[in-house]
Amino acid sequence: MSDHVVPAVINLDVPGPVISRHLYGHFAEHLGRCIYGGFYVGEDSEIPNEGGIRLDVVEALRALNIPNLRWPGGCFADEYHWMDGIGPKADRPVMVNTHWGNVEENNHFGTHEFMALCELLGTEPYISGNVGSGTVKEMSDWVEYLTRDGDSPMVRLRKQNGREEPWKVRFWGLGNEAWGCGGNMSAQHYAAEARRFGTYCRDHGDNKLYRVAAGANSADYGWTETLMKQYGELGCAYRPTHFMQALSFHYYTIPGTWQDKGDATVFDDGDYYATMVKAAHVDELITGHSNVMDCYDPGKTVGLALDEWGTWWNVEPGTNPGFLYQQNTLRDALVASLHFDIFHRHAGRLVLANIAQTVNVLQAMILTDPDTKALVLTPTYHVFEMNKGHQDATSLRVDLRADAPARQVGTDTLTTVSLSASRKDGKVLVSLSNLDAEQPADVDLDLRGGTLADVRARILTAGKLQAHNTPDAPATIAPRAHDQVTATATGLRVHLPAHSFVTVEGRLG
Ligand code: AHR
Repeated sequence: MSDHVVPAVINLDVPGPVISRHLYGHFAEHLGRCIYGGFYVGEDSEIPNEGGIRLDVVEALRALNIPNLRWPGGCFADEYHWMDGIGPKADRPVMVNTHWGNVEENNHFGTHEFMALCELLGTEPYISGNVGSGTVKEMSDWVEYLTRDGDSPMVRLRKQNGREEPWKVRFWGLGNEAWGCGGNMSAQHYAAEARRFGTYCRDHGDNKLYRVAAGANSADYGWTETLMKQYGELGCAYRPTHFMQALSFHYYTIPGTWQDKGDATVFDDGDYYATMVKAAHVDELITGHSNVMDCYDPGKTVGLALDEWGTWWNVEPGTNPGFLYQQNTLRDALVASLHFDIFHRHAGRLVLANIAQTVNVLQAMILTDPDTKALVLTPTYHVFEMNKGHQDATSLRVDLRADAPARQVGTDTLTTVSLSASRKDGKVLVSLSNLDAEQPADVDLDLRGGTLADVRARILTAGKLQAHNTPDAPATIAPRAHDQVTATATGLRVHLPAHSFVTVEGRLG
C-alpha cells in the first residue's frame, strides 16, 4: 500500500450523460506520411493492401472501434479541391501541398479511396470542406456527389466513376481553423461564411447532415460567442439548426514554445509535469466554451467538438520538419488518458473529439517505418483500446471524499490521480491514471447502488516515462493483466504504480 489512499465514491445507479462514441474519433490529413505510406501504399505495393489501403494498419485500427475519421485536413482541407481526386488516377492533376512540406500531391487518395478506407475500418466519415479557397457550389456538389440517390449531375458523375449507391456521410466540417490557415478570417466574417456554406450543404434523402462550424483556437471564447450569437439571431423563418449542429475548437498539448516544443522522448520530470499541466488545461477550455454556449443554447442543441487534440513535439531528428513525425511515449499515453477522463466529465456538451493524428503524424496510434515498412503500435494506441468500453456508455460521476494527491508545478497545481467511470450492457468500466512520476497511489472505490462481479483489471506502465515502442522492441509498453485490485467492505482497492494507467471492468450485480 502507498502513502496516498484516494477514497472515491461511484453511485452505480445514478446515470449521467451518455459518453458519445464520437469522443474517440480520429483524424487523417494529407500531411507527411499519414495518408501516403501510412494508410495508403497504392495497389502495386508489396505490402498487403486492398485498393492501395494497407491492411495491417486497418486490422490494427479495427481493434479500436474508431467511430469517425476526419479527412482531408486540417489546414490541407482549405486548399483541397475534391474534384481533383476522382476519376482515373492517371488523369488526376498534381497539386502542391503548400502547408505540409511543399511536396507534390498526386491526388491518388481521393474521395472514393477515403470512403473505401472508412468501410474497411467500419467507421463514419467526417469530411472537412473547403471554405478558405473553395466555393459554396464546390462543397454543395461534394455533398450531392456522395449522398444523393436518383439522378442529378453529381449522381451521374459518381456513377461514371464506378459507384452506383450513395454513401452515408453525416459529419461535415465547414472549413478548418478559419482564424488562421483556413482563411485568416475574423469571427464575424467566418460566421457569415459558415451560414452560407452550411445553408447550401443539403440533406439529400435520409442523409441528415451534422455540420460542424470551424471554431476557436484554444481559449478564444469571443469566437465561440460570435458564432453562438449568429446561431440565435437567425430567427424563426429560418430554423437556426440549418447552418451548424456543432461548433469546434482546437487545443494541442505543447509544454514548450512553437519554436521549440520539446522532444518526444528526451525529457525530465520537470518537462513531464509541465506537459501534464498543459494537458489538464483542456478541462478549463471545455468549461469556458461550454459556459459561453450555455448562455445562447441552454438546451444544449449545439454540440461542442474538439476536433483536433493531442501532443505536439519537435519532429524526430533527421525527418522533414513539415511532416510532423514524432515518437510517442508513456507520457503521451497519460496525456490521452487524462483527456478522456475530462471528456467523460463533459459528456453533456462535448459530443465529438478527434486526436491528431492517426498514423505517423503528431500523437499517432501507429508509426510505420519508411524503410522496413514495419508497423508499431504506440502507447497512445493502447489507451484508446483499453478505454473503448466507454464509447456510448452512460457516464457515472466519480466523487472524491478527500483531496486527491497533487504536485505544485510552478504556479499550477496538478492533481495526480484522475478517474472516470461508465456503465454499458450490464458492465462497469473504471479508468484510473496515476500521473505522479515517482509516487504510487491507492484508490478505494466506494461502490454504491450495486456490486461488481468478475472483476478484471489491466495496466499500462513501464519502468520510465520515456518508454516507447520501436520496430525492434514493439511491446516495450503494452497492456497487461493487473492483479493489484482487492475487494474491500464497500468496493475495491486499486493499486496504481507511479506513472500508470489502469482500467477495471466488472459485471454489474
Ligand atoms: O494537425 C496538424 C495541423 O494543426 C492541422 O492541419 C491544423 O488544423 C492545426 O493547426
